[in-house]
Amino acid sequence: MPDGLKTTAFVVFLPSGRRGRFDVGTPILDCARALGVDIDSVCGGRGICGRCQVVVADGEFAKHGVTSRGDHISPRGEPENRFDERKGLSAERRLSCHALLWDDVVIDVPPDSQVHKQVVRKRAEVRDIQMDPAIRLHYCAVEEPDMHNPLGDFERLSAALRDQWGIENLEEIDIRVLHNLQTALRKGDWNVTVAVHRSTRITAVWAGFWDKAYGIAFDIGSTTIAAHLCDLSSGEVLASGGVMNPQIRFGEDLMSRVSYIMMNPGGEVDLTRVVREAVSQLAHDVIEEAGVHPTDVLNVTVVGNPIMHHLYLGINPIELGGAPFPLATNSSMTVWATEVDLNSINADARVYMLPCIAGHVGSDTAGVILSEEPHLRDDMTLVVDVGTNAEIVLGNRTTLLAASSPTGPAFEGAQISCGQRAAPGAIERLRINPTTLEPRFKVIGSDLWSDEGGFADETANTGVTGICGSGIIEALGEMLLAGILRTDGIIDGAAQALSPRIESDGRTFAYLIHAGDVSIRVTQNDIRAIQLAKAALYAGAALLMDKLGIDHVDRVVLAGAFGTHIDPKYAMIIGMIPDCGLDRVYAAGNAAGTGARIALLNQQSRDDIQRIVKTITKVETAVEPRFQEHFVKAMALPHADAPYPQLEAVVPELTTRRAALALETNAETGRRRRRPR
Ligand code: FES
Repeated sequence: MPDGLKTTAFVVFLPSGRRGRFDVGTPILDCARALGVDIDSVCGGRGICGRCQVVVADGEFAKHGVTSRGDHISPRGEPENRFDERKGLSAERRLSCHALLWDDVVIDVPPDSQVHKQVVRKRAEVRDIQMDPAIRLHYCAVEEPDMHNPLGDFERLSAALRDQWGIENLEEIDIRVLHNLQTALRKGDWNVTVAVHRSTRITAVWAGFWDKAYGIAFDIGSTTIAAHLCDLSSGEVLASGGVMNPQIRFGEDLMSRVSYIMMNPGGEVDLTRVVREAVSQLAHDVIEEAGVHPTDVLNVTVVGNPIMHHLYLGINPIELGGAPFPLATNSSMTVWATEVDLNSINADARVYMLPCIAGHVGSDTAGVILSEEPHLRDDMTLVVDVGTNAEIVLGNRTTLLAASSPTGPAFEGAQISCGQRAAPGAIERLRINPTTLEPRFKVIGSDLWSDEGGFADETANTGVTGICGSGIIEALGEMLLAGILRTDGIIDGAAQALSPRIESDGRTFAYLIHAGDVSIRVTQNDIRAIQLAKAALYAGAALLMDKLGIDHVDRVVLAGAFGTHIDPKYAMIIGMIPDCGLDRVYAAGNAAGTGARIALLNQQSRDDIQRIVKTITKVETAVEPRFQEHFVKAMALPHADAPYPQLEAVVPELTTRRAALALETNAETGRRRRRPR
């Protein structure tokens, strides 16, 4: 016990620096609460959950005028010893709910004890995620009923939540919770743990103490579905998984699925059923991998393009098949897991659908915005999410524009004669010697270049099987720089004089990369397919730049799996994106999925994105007359007339190639002018 002379003591919490004077004998947790210091708790100070752990700092803290020592708080008592026996409590750690203030002290709150801890993201250019999940667990003691108090069990539970947790705004109880409530209260001897959604709704109840809560973030793409299972207390990703979207059997791309529904009335039911089954199975798989219990999965977030969004919710997307492409809703939605047949998790879990932006720009783009936050920056950011459709966002903290551009599947290796998905054996990197026109390449599964010793051995199992999206982009870029490809996208037959790798292919030419079991060539048609895709992407971006009256962007974010593998230099050489400093081009990975994860871990972000999408100006590329004009000019490599000064500063060969085409074009124009009428 303290010496009895002191009646109050001074306490400083780190890292927040909050400080205050309290009566000697006050629990440290109560001091923290009074000062608004962020310390977690599920059990409400009963010494059960262990979330409130702190460390007493030892030494002189001149800045705070405090000498702090371990014995300035009460020694470990029975509850802490019991907790130590059950779950382990290291020697320097204390349960702040049971450690009493005895003398002036500095208290360190470790990150794992903070409710609003930061979940670190690997990329330096983005903010970490602050933990603030929509689902919180609260353990509370509920008053027993008696003859003189006619309140129902739910009303007494509400009163306990108000008194013990300050939860004032509970909405009326859901019948599904009432089904379990009375049993849980009696089984737990009037102690229960409840899951409260957004401080307003009880979504689950357990007898006694319970401290496990998980959530899953889904990204439902038209080709693949991805899932991340997260711990809602630490934010840690416990398991991730992905499956092909089984809707592919109804149509490769989105519009062919809408056509299927148009031609097969009622077909939307099948598309909804198969995607829900796949999502539920994927949830089962990640739950199993993480070894958690399905009933502890209490919250889900979902992003997807508008058609995936509608089909998952069981809404016929037929209206999205034609102008003006109206959505059933562009607001966020929260439904019960059972309403979307998500049967592999807790039936009382809430499923949050991020808001869509417009007819062709879905909640996947909302997810990308949450992840990349262009609206919080001063510099002008272009975000492109490259898939079968490219979603494009341009803006800064003043304004945000969004569009969708029909790039088709060429960037994913489809429509390319030797194209394949990124898998072992696929060429992913390529260089061409500008003198000999000989290629060297890397395939997925080996770190060696094809002209290095050991390459044949290393690739013996996989073989060299095709070329994936990043490989074809580099092939075009290198062919252009080596003079095999003209800037108008034509393979130059004159190069046949320099290398047998330039082969006649009917009336056009092809470039032979690899002769083996599978011969891999880039044909004129392949180049045409990439030109069409990249021109659509560039034209969409150019249209947004027009709207803002700008002629350059400050930074580019490449989202999507494709953006992770692509070399930004080659993306720029072929003119997928406008000129920009290469050190200002970032790969964001699955930013849409990250956005879903942010919405899962931080409830405030749900309100933020709902507000932001309402401020976004949607540009409909299909009805913009200038889109076609931009598209035609963007067919050239990198572009008919857009300047690329920053790129040319690091790739001077490009300047030479562009100048050569300009000369040819001028000569051609001159010949036409001189031609007698
Ligand atoms: Fe739960 Fe301290 S608040 S152990």
